[in-house]
Amino acid sequence: MRIASFLSLAAVFASSLAQLSSNLTLITEDFGENPTNVPFYLYVPKTVQKNPAIILGVHWCTGTGPVFFENTEYAKYADQFGYIILYPSAPRESKCWDVASNATLTHNGGSDSLALANMVKWTLKKYRGDPNRVFVTGLSSGGMMTQVLVATYPDLFKAGSSYCGVPYGCFRGPGEWNNVCSEGRLIKTPKQWGDDVRNAYPGYRGPRPKLQIWHGSEDVGLAYQNFHESNKMWSNVFGIEWKKNNTNTPFANYTQMVFGDGTKYVAYSAAGIGHDIKITALDVLAWFGIYKPKPATTTTSTKAPAPTATALPWGQCGGVTYKVSFP
Ligand SMILES: *[C@@H]1O[C@H](CO)[C@@H](O)[C@H](O)[C@H]1NC(C)=O
Ligand SMILES: *[C@@H]1O[C@H](CO)[C@@H](O)[C@H](O)[C@H]1NC(C)=O
Ligand SMILES: *[C@@H]1O[C@H](CO)[C@@H](O)[C@H](O)[C@H]1NC(C)=O
Ligand SMILES: *[C@@H]1O[C@H](CO)[C@@H](O)[C@H](O)[C@H]1NC(C)=O
Repeated sequence: MRIASFLSLAAVFASSLAQLSSNLTLITEDFGENPTNVPFYLYVPKTVQKNPAIILGVHWCTGTGPVFFENTEYAKYADQFGYIILYPSAPRESKCWDVASNATLTHNGGSDSLALANMVKWTLKKYRGDPNRVFVTGLSSGGMMTQVLVATYPDLFKAGSSYCGVPYGCFRGPGEWNNVCSEGRLIKTPKQWGDDVRNAYPGYRGPRPKLQIWHGSEDVGLAYQNFHESNKMWSNVFGIEWKKNNTNTPFANYTQMVFGDGTKYVAYSAAGIGHDIKITALDVLAWFGIYKPKPATTTTSTKAPAPTATALPWGQCGGVTYKVSFP
């Protein structure tokens, strides 16, 4: 059933992919240590900016790199803006990322996070990427991995955007899935969460990647409580306080929670939306400094628009309809 709808959807997207300037490529070269054999797909547009930005795009459970490529707008915008984007595939049957093992949760500790960091470093070198414009984004399992990567490799990434994820280390444990976290029952103080991040890379004193998070208030796949827990974590890590809420920003029913001066950490709460929250690529690219939105018009609009990005009908990662059986 799920396979069938997947195939029909892939066909719909095929026509828009045909417009792209280049193809997705599976990298078979040795890109460094890859302890979990993560397949590495790369999209390099025909016209690449000099010293391009590098984006790591991380898929949800049941997805793959090519599926994320086909169902998000990042490749289209790579053609427009000249950045390079990596689409890794989770290397296990569940097609979920390892966001639970001590190895993946530790700087240079191994597992998937090390493989992803090594892919990014290889791409930076090979394409003379800009080390000051290295970004990571993902949804669900990929949103969780985004928070893992900004915590474990703060020296590599400059910004992250996490859709319906959980705080770094929330899934820590012996199994691949963690119901206590996914159901929003792992509650910590800001200091405890902050210490978790600081312990991901002991001794690290450099700058931290800025982060935005997005979460639907009706999310039952990765419970909405994780939105609050992430806010505690990152406000502690950055040493900033919640400042204000901007309602209906950037879309109707979305609230933008601004922490500090809004340059380090921002959290978007989508009222009435579940785990199928839409990825709005231009908002992510704006956060990364790649897309420059037009300055807001002075005429006050009473109605914010609905998000127009591509829906992700099976972007479910551990959501209600997704049954995972983990060893
Ligand atoms: C993509 O790959 C196909 C099949 O190999 C090839 O025909 C096509 O020219 C490629 N497109 C681009 C833009 O490189
Ligand atoms: C993982 O690290 C925690 C401490 O952070 C420790 O309690 C646990 O025993 C470790 N697990 C393994 C399998 O080493
Ligand atoms: C907005 O602000 C209040 C603090 O007054 C906070 O408790 C609330 O959760 C905020 N966020 C949203 C999404 O409304
Ligand atoms: C915002 O929420 C209201 C109340 O639930 C709903 O009627 C409306 O359709 C939502 N707007 C959008 C753009 O989703």
